[in-house]
Amino acid sequence: MPATIIIGLQWGDEGKGKMVDHLAETVDAVARFSGGANAGHTIEADGHRIALHQLPSGLIRPDKLGIIGSSCVLDPIALSEEMELMEKEGISVADRLTISGKVHLVHPAGRYIENSEETRLGKSAVGTTGRGIGPTYVRKFMRKGIRLEDAAVPEVFLERSAAITDECIEQLGLSAELAGSLREEVEIFNRESIRLVDRAMDVSMVIARILASEGSILAEGAQGSLLDPDHGTYPFVTCSSCVAAAACVSLGIGPVLIDEVVGVMKAYSTRVGNGPFPTELTGSLGDRIREQGNEYGATTGRPRRCGWFDAVLANYTARINGSTWTAITLLDVLSGIPELKVCMKYELDPEIDLSLFETGVRLGKHIPIYETLPGWEEDIKGEREWDALPENARNYVLFIEKLTGVPIRAISTGPAREDLIWRT
Ligand code: IMP
Repeated sequence: MPATIIIGLQWGDEGKGKMVDHLAETVDAVARFSGGANAGHTIEADGHRIALHQLPSGLIRPDKLGIIGSSCVLDPIALSEEMELMEKEGISVADRLTISGKVHLVHPAGRYIENSEETRLGKSAVGTTGRGIGPTYVRKFMRKGIRLEDAAVPEVFLERSAAITDECIEQLGLSAELAGSLREEVEIFNRESIRLVDRAMDVSMVIARILASEGSILAEGAQGSLLDPDHGTYPFVTCSSCVAAAACVSLGIGPVLIDEVVGVMKAYSTRVGNGPFPTELTGSLGDRIREQGNEYGATTGRPRRCGWFDAVLANYTARINGSTWTAITLLDVLSGIPELKVCMKYELDPEIDLSLFETGVRLGKHIPIYETLPGWEEDIKGEREWDALPENARNYVLFIEKLTGVPIRAISTGPAREDLIWRT
C-alpha cells in the first residue's frame, strides 16, 4: 500500500488513532493532513496510553517518520508540550518530525478571538474546542496569516506577530490584565515558532522521495467527515477539510498516487459540540453508552453526545470519501443492550432521494426511521476472532456492511492494540 488515506466517517473520535497505529506498522511515514490541536487521538500500545493532538499517531512506533501537512494549523506551544510528553514516555520524536513550511501558526490571539465569538453567540455557539482553530483559518484565507516558514526571518516574523497581538487587543477591547496575559503567551509563541523553523520542509518532496524509493506512506485524517466545512453539518463544523481528498491538497501528492482509502466508524454514533444529530439518545441508554465507551473528549474532556448508528449518514460519508474498506470500532460497548437500532431513513423524506441529501440545518429536523436488531449478552471485549463473536454481533456488523456497501475488514473490540479482529 504505497499511499493510503485513513479518515473518520462520522463526527470525529471514531478511534482512528488505533487504526493508524495498526496500519503504520508497515509504512515508512505517517502524515497528518488536517486540523490542529483540536484533534485528540488516543492510542494504547506497548504499555503507553497517549493522547496525541498534533503529532501523527503513527509516531508512537519508533521507526516511523512523522509529517505535518500544509493544510494543518500548528500551535507551536502545544506541539512542544506534546513532544516533551512523548520524550517522558521514552519515545523520541525529535529526529523524526518534518513540518510543511506552509503550515499556518495558531497565534495565541486566535484563542481570545474565538472565546469572545463563542460567548457572543450564546445558545447558537458552535461548541468549538477553544484551540484557536477557526480564527487561524480565517486569517489564512484573508491572506493575513503567519506560516512556519515566516519564522525563518525573525525580525519580520516578530513584527507581524506583534501586529496581530495589537489588533486583537484593540478589536476585543481587552483589559490591561488580559492584554498582559496575551503578551506573555505571545512571547512563548514567538520563541517556540522560531525554534521549530528548522523542521520546515517541502513535505511534497519528502513524500515523493519516499514513494520513488518504493516506500509507503499513511495519510492520517483528523476530526470526521460530518465536521467537514463543505460536506459536514454546516455551520456546526470545523474549519479544515477532513475528507480523503484533502490529503492530496495538504501533502502535495496527486490523487492518482492514492491506493486505498480506509474509513473508520464507531458501531454507534457520537458527537461533541453543538449541531444536528438525528439519532441522539438523550436518556439513560445514551448515558450507559457514554460510560461504557468512555465517551469523553480527548482534547477538552467534554462528555460526548451518544446515539444509534446512522446508516443514512454512513452511506453518505463512505461515498464522499470513496472509501475502499472500513474499520468498525467499539463494538464491545454495545454488549448487553437487548435491542440495537440502526437508522435506515428519515421521516421527513421517507423516500429520501440521496442525490438531494442535505446535511445543513434541516438535518436536525429529520426524525429517524429505525430497524431493530437483536443485541447480544456476551462480553466481547478483547475478542480477536470473527468466528468467536456471538451470532448477533456478527449479524450487526454484516448488516452495517450491507447498508454502506463497503467491506468491513477490521473490528475493534477494546482500546488495546491487540483488541482487534481482521476479516479477510
Ligand atoms: P473547532 O475545530 O475547535 O473549531 O470546533 C468545531 C467543531 O468541531 C466543534 O463541534 C468541535 O467539538 C468539533 N471538533 C473539532 N475537533 C474535533 C475532534 O477531534 N473530534 C471531535 N470533534 C471535534
